Amino acid sequence: MIDEMTTVLEPAPLPDFVETKYVKDITKRALSYIKAGFPVHLRGPSGTGKTTLAMHLASKIERPVVMIHGDEEFTTSDLVGGEHGYRIRKVVDRFISRVLKTEEDMVKRWVDNRLTVACKYGFTLVYDEFTRSRPEANNILLSILQEKMMDLPVGRGGEEPYLRVDPDFTAIFTSNPEEYAGVHRSQDALRDRMITMDLDHFDYDTELAITLAKAKLSKQDSQVIVNIVRGLRESRKCEFAPTVRGCIMIAKTLKAQKLTPSKSSSTFMQMCQDILASETSRVGSKTNQDRVKQIVRELVAKELGIGKTISVPEETGKEGIAVNAVDNSVIEGEKEKTESLIEM
Ligand SMILES: Nc1ncnc2c1ncn2[C@@H]1O[C@H](COP(=O)(O)OP(=O)(O)OP(=O)(O)O)[C@@H](O)[C@H]1O
Ligand SMILES: [Mg+2]
Repeated sequence: MIDEMTTVLEPAPLPDFVETKYVKDITKRALSYIKAGFPVHLRGPSGTGKTTLAMHLASKIERPVVMIHGDEEFTTSDLVGGEHGYRIRKVVDRFISRVLKTEEDMVKRWVDNRLTVACKYGFTLVYDEFTRSRPEANNILLSILQEKMMDLPVGRGGEEPYLRVDPDFTAIFTSNPEEYAGVHRSQDALRDRMITMDLDHFDYDTELAITLAKAKLSKQDSQVIVNIVRGLRESRKCEFAPTVRGCIMIAKTLKAQKLTPSKSSSTFMQMCQDILASETSRVGSKTNQDRVKQIVRELVAKELGIGKTISVPEETGKEGIAVNAVDNSVIEGEKEKTESLIEM
């Protein structure tokens, strides 16, 4: 048994994985490129299902999976391997069997890292967010993907300096668009060696199916949540568009609290505002947050069909002030009336 095998994952179906027409279609296309021998690169904004889809594709390939997460600090040796070591040798004396001699030395021993393991044994490599690693660390991939040869640093024991990549080796990459913080530009040469599929936010059916699968709320309640998140996304007023993660967070919080949107409308409103304002702003600017909260307020009111007024806790800490859902003006004295209207 070799040490590095411990980092290998079994290709297994993902729990709660949802396969709608949208997901099946992308899976089918990606698998057809992989079958033709090309690495696939799933690129898209956060929360568009890239990592999940990459793992799903890997499970369909049915080879052991090696996963790497891109990292600014990576060097080539983090991918390929390096000399690590401290070695303990036990020597049993053949003539005097009671004698057990332990020798310890500092001889460095080459240890293959994940990329080498995947190339050597023909495993599936999932290189998640590969553009977070610096381009020079990823240069090693150029010859792996093109010439199917891996150029190994000298010092790797007595073995050949080149490793022939096993024909079963497959690579799946994911990345966020270049404008994301902490993302490097992918090298043209590397991108040219893979087939890039641009993913966008899920279609309605998939977003709903994922929300349902993750929190197991009723279909009706899940629809309310998905409509609100999609409405906010379509408003195009957010610094970052809200993702399916927002739907999952709201749905799971409701489930954990045993609440429903219609029976606890003010708590639901607050929850949507907190979660969606947090998800859609990077620096937490007040203007942006207020804008998002206002849109969410309108969307919740519309979804719950509670007319123009809805009770929401105000940011000043006052509980349950009635707010005009359209222009956000506070309607003092309407609290009781509105609460009973909503809570019924
Ligand atoms: N087909 C699916 N079935 C069930 N859940 C899914 C599916 N696709 C995505 N999800 C869920 O949606 C969420 C976002 O997906 P994922 O993490 O794969 O997105 P991503 O594009 O990799 O995002 P990031 O760029 O932020 O890493 C996760 O909670 C994931 O479990
Ligand atoms: Mg991801």
